[in-house]
Amino acid sequence: MSSLPPLLSPVLSSVIRGPALLPIIQADTPDEAVAIAKALADGGVGSVEVVLRTRQALAAVTAIRSALPDLLVGAGTVLSAADANACKDAGAQFLVSPASTPKLLEAMIATGLPFAPGVATPSEIAMAYEYGLTEVKFFPAHLSGGIEMLKALRGVFQQVRFCPTGGISQHNLADFLALPNVFVAGGSWLTPANLVKTQQWGQISELASAASAIARQLKTAA
Ligand code: 3PG
Repeated sequence: MSSLPPLLSPVLSSVIRGPALLPIIQADTPDEAVAIAKALADGGVGSVEVVLRTRQALAAVTAIRSALPDLLVGAGTVLSAADANACKDAGAQFLVSPASTPKLLEAMIATGLPFAPGVATPSEIAMAYEYGLTEVKFFPAHLSGGIEMLKALRGVFQQVRFCPTGGISQHNLADFLALPNVFVAGGSWLTPANLVKTQQWGQISELASAASAIARQLKTAA
């Protein structure tokens, strides 16, 4: 059996700042990313995930880190070792991936950053666990069984905690966060594309503020 890279990074839950929320930032420019991040921070959010789905995503990570040093800034949609390394170089403080493969897990472990690899099945959770990982992203949460699936997984994987994303909204946030095996909830519902496009930062702050209130009530802030 090949020797695995040592797990040196702290778990993601130990570094999350503010309420148990991980809103996604998908921005076309670094300035837009900073404006979204500021609106979220104004609504009480302490941690954000910039997704690698736009050309300037890495520059956005760097820009937010510099403009808003109190925010914890991670990178999401990490799909390869090259992505993981580029995110670290850009200043990402944690990594999130929608998937788990041995190669991807080893690359993320090698960065030394906290991270959450994506899982949707018991076998994927077991694979992550074999690498010593006890915190994973459950994606896409709503299509993979949602609340009921997380309840079922809790009985079997008693040490594993989840960051559900995919289909989280203001309507079901409380139900997800009330689960003891959920440590943070992620998604794009706080940063809808239409509000970003029309620069309605106040409305994003209001959405963030409502979600922060729910999260603070259900989970102790980090
Ligand atoms: C992700 O990247 O985690 C998902 O795209 C989030 O899904 P959502 O847009 O349904 O929140």
